[in-house]
Amino acid sequence: MKIIRANSYQDMSRKAANLISAQVIMKPNCVLGLATGSSPEGIYKQLIDWYNKDDIDFSQVTSINLDEYVGLSHDHEQSYWHFMQKHFFEHINIRQDHIFVPDGSNPDAEEVCRNYDQIIQRFGGIDLQLLGIGVDGHIGFNEPGAAFELGTHKVRLQESTIQANKRFFESEDEVPKEAYTMGIKTIMQAHKVLLIASGSAKATIIRDALYGPVTPQVPASILQMHPDLTVVVDREAGALLP
Ligand code: F6R
Repeated sequence: MKIIRANSYQDMSRKAANLISAQVIMKPNCVLGLATGSSPEGIYKQLIDWYNKDDIDFSQVTSINLDEYVGLSHDHEQSYWHFMQKHFFEHINIRQDHIFVPDGSNPDAEEVCRNYDQIIQRFGGIDLQLLGIGVDGHIGFNEPGAAFELGTHKVRLQESTIQANKRFFESEDEVPKEAYTMGIKTIMQAHKVLLIASGSAKATIIRDALYGPVTPQVPASILQMHPDLTVVVDREAGALLP
């Protein structure tokens, strides 16, 4: 495990974007596992900036996102598909047919999850998986208690996750209660994992995930066992690390 300390959110974003950029330069047809949420927004901004300066080319890249809310179609403003288009894909030259997000509009969980695992397999697995972390230690939507050996599956969101995500919806009632998520088995099979965390709300969970016991109660703790894990934290998120 390599921990990189950044001074600020912007510095964290730039450092993490550098690692993603290096991956794309080293393997132009790589598969990126991408995440939504507040943490990676700055990374996407930085990558768009480098793309506009002709420093990075996404024309051969494939992106396979971590998760999607059940019940939201692509055109729903809060769908993760929409988030990724708005914050990243619309601004770069990635091929639309190289973009994958679980199909939240399909209620047939078995079909969605089987298809998604097949897509990941067809592209040869994920080269670099970008992860944020929930205050309860979730990665993707693998909430505390999630089995470590699952592929893509449907989950019920924890109350704390619903609370954390309600800021994006008009009311709490509108926050979907279920999601499709890549499983921890798939995340652990990624060749490289890049975990990012910013802000004081993440300090305790980052410490527990990286230095506490490896337990399904802290899903991100399994990352301690990953052979190629890089963590980029800003000052606040890293405040409790040794
Ligand atoms: C997003 C995802 C989630 C977030 C986590 C942190 O695709 O899978 O696990 O990474 O909830 O969210 P932020 O970055 O908004 O604090």
